[in-house]
Amino acid sequence: MYKTGIITLSDKGAKGERVDLSGQKIKELLPADKYEVVSYVLLPDALDQIEAELIRLADDCGCDLILTTGGTGFSPRDVTPEATLHVADRQAPGIAEAIRGYSMTITKRAMLSRGVSVIRGNTLIINLPGSPKAVEESLTYILDTLEHGLDILSGHGGECARR
Ligand code: MTE
Repeated sequence: MYKTGIITLSDKGAKGERVDLSGQKIKELLPADKYEVVSYVLLPDALDQIEAELIRLADDCGCDLILTTGGTGFSPRDVTPEATLHVADRQAPGIAEAIRGYSMTITKRAMLSRGVSVIRGNTLIINLPGSPKAVEESLTYILDTLEHGLDILSGHGGECARR
């Protein structure tokens, strides 16, 4: 099982003014036999709070995977990519590139997501855009390939050659 943390970033959601459908969507899309969601939080778009939660999930909870949703756009309050980069040890840009590449075949507005994908220790952190639709499109596309990366990251990976 991959230990997974979910963080939804939304000022309105954190104030109780909007129901978080995107975090729920992530939970629905992750196969329950492979991914154990150990934490799910809704936070405002605040750099220090996002960084602290990413560090808690990676270092204290030992998550294999952290998925964020929201805060990747151009609004001055959108700081999820910056928080993610601040806590990163290594970049893993291919995942964010794949999300944007596939999403561009659905909507050109995908170019407006600044989401990043990085590694902290043994934890993979991926920023997904904020809407439930974007979450579904992005996560569905990367899900089957994610496992191979997670296995290698945790040291349980097998051969790469066959795929
Ligand atoms: N990606 C996919 N797959 N589908 C979408 O509908 N919406 C885009 C983009 N990425 C979208 C998408 C839009 S309109 C924006 S503004 C950005 O994600 C940033 O979204 P966020 O600020 O909610 O994270």
